[in-house]
Amino acid sequence: MMRTAFEDMNNKRRLTPPSTPTKRRKFVDIDLGERGKKFDIRQDTITPPTTPTKPKSNVYTKAKALFQRGSSSDVLVGREDERDEINEFIQHTVGFNYSDSLYISGPPGCGKTAQLDASLKEYDCKRGQMTIKDNKCKVVKINCMSLVNSNEIFNVIVTSAGQKGSLIDILKTENTFKSLMIILDEIDCLEDGILLELFSLSNKKNHLDHKTKLIMVGISNAIDLTTKVLPLVSRTNVQPKLLNFKPYNFDKIQKIIIFKLKSLIESNKENTSENFIPIVNASAILLCCKKVSSVTGDLRRSFDLIIRSIEMLEKQMSSEDLGHYDFLTAPRVQINHMASVCNLNNGSILSKLNHLQKKVIVHLFNFQKSSTKVGSVNNFFDYYTQNNHIKMKKSDFLEILGTLDSMGVVNLGKDISIKTDYMEFKNSIKNENIVRELI
Ligand SMILES: Nc1ncnc2c1ncn2[C@@H]1O[C@H](COP(=O)(O)OP(=O)(O)OP(=O)(O)O)[C@@H](O)[C@H]1O
Ligand SMILES: [Mg+2]
Repeated sequence: MMRTAFEDMNNKRRLTPPSTPTKRRKFVDIDLGERGKKFDIRQDTITPPTTPTKPKSNVYTKAKALFQRGSSSDVLVGREDERDEINEFIQHTVGFNYSDSLYISGPPGCGKTAQLDASLKEYDCKRGQMTIKDNKCKVVKINCMSLVNSNEIFNVIVTSAGQKGSLIDILKTENTFKSLMIILDEIDCLEDGILLELFSLSNKKNHLDHKTKLIMVGISNAIDLTTKVLPLVSRTNVQPKLLNFKPYNFDKIQKIIIFKLKSLIESNKENTSENFIPIVNASAILLCCKKVSSVTGDLRRSFDLIIRSIEMLEKQMSSEDLGHYDFLTAPRVQINHMASVCNLNNGSILSKLNHLQKKVIVHLFNFQKSSTKVGSVNNFFDYYTQNNHIKMKKSDFLEILGTLDSMGVVNLGKDISIKTDYMEFKNSIKNENIVRELI
């Protein structure tokens, strides 16, 4: 059963796993609004080339597509309990036309966003609308990280819902939909007061006042939110349901990867042995899972390793051969490919950075040396904008930081930090003009 913040406070139970995972913001999954444009960690530039060449499709490109950022799964292996709780919440609120709120927390890459999306899909939520038991619900999903300013949120909600006026106006009037579900991903980016206001509006106490019911769903990996804001919320009688996603352990990561790879031969199952895994062999998968589960448990990292190891294998094959294989005959990633990918040292990663990425790191080093402000992402963005005459959109800036985080060059936590040695980095840019900008 789901717990309420109030119950948790009373019981003084821990809402978080014993080893508090570091709060890390992920920018990489932000849909930037353009149709189909999702972030891909392997892109080297943020501007696509003018004449993009489409890579020829072969078994490896199809396999890699399963592990790309932005690829969605209808069923999330290992998240059955969480799925049930989310579905129960949706069923109860939308189905019975009832106001309520849910707060989903958990460390990065543990499937919070993906599971919510999968649940909405189960209820056939399309174009921001779903209907359960004849009750129509408008669904608005916002990634708070994309907001320049916390206060924007109310306007963004109203316009995303295709409405006019204020949020309260929408709730106090009858609409073509009976309820409005607001899903706020990365809600830790919002100020406490705004969070409190939003959660309060979905308070059951307001239920009768509102002709259109408000259903709030907040998602974040900021564990401190449960101790900081939610007690405040519960003091005001607002009691969101809490659902904590635990990080994936070794077994679960392994199961997820194998499930994905086996889906490639789903239609050919009868011709293969039950234990056969296409494209990546079992020992390579084992090493990948070991590597990731011992560090963060962030599924994205394991997916990145799978993609890179497949790329390494592809490079060793002639392009002519690549087209001739099917999933049953294609050579598979071996443990040595995975080992090389896992051991990529910092030096070789630095040589892969593009100019813009290097420039951002130069400014990050400078920011950390000169700034008296807290090293938050927003402060760093302000610093970068002030010290660069070529302006960059915040979403592009976040995308670059997301890539650097995935490459292990920076660490996006509550504050941003560099995981790269200063001299090593300086050396890697010694022949470029930007080296002069480094303080
Ligand atoms: N059980 C699973 N099976 C298959 N893919 C999964 C599973 N869980 C997560 N994923 C995939 O892993 C990636 C990371 O998941 P997701 O974006 O949901 O993480 P998150 O918990 O929201 O992380 P963050 O806090 O950084 O936003 C996504 O590509 C998602 O599709
Ligand atoms: Mg997420």
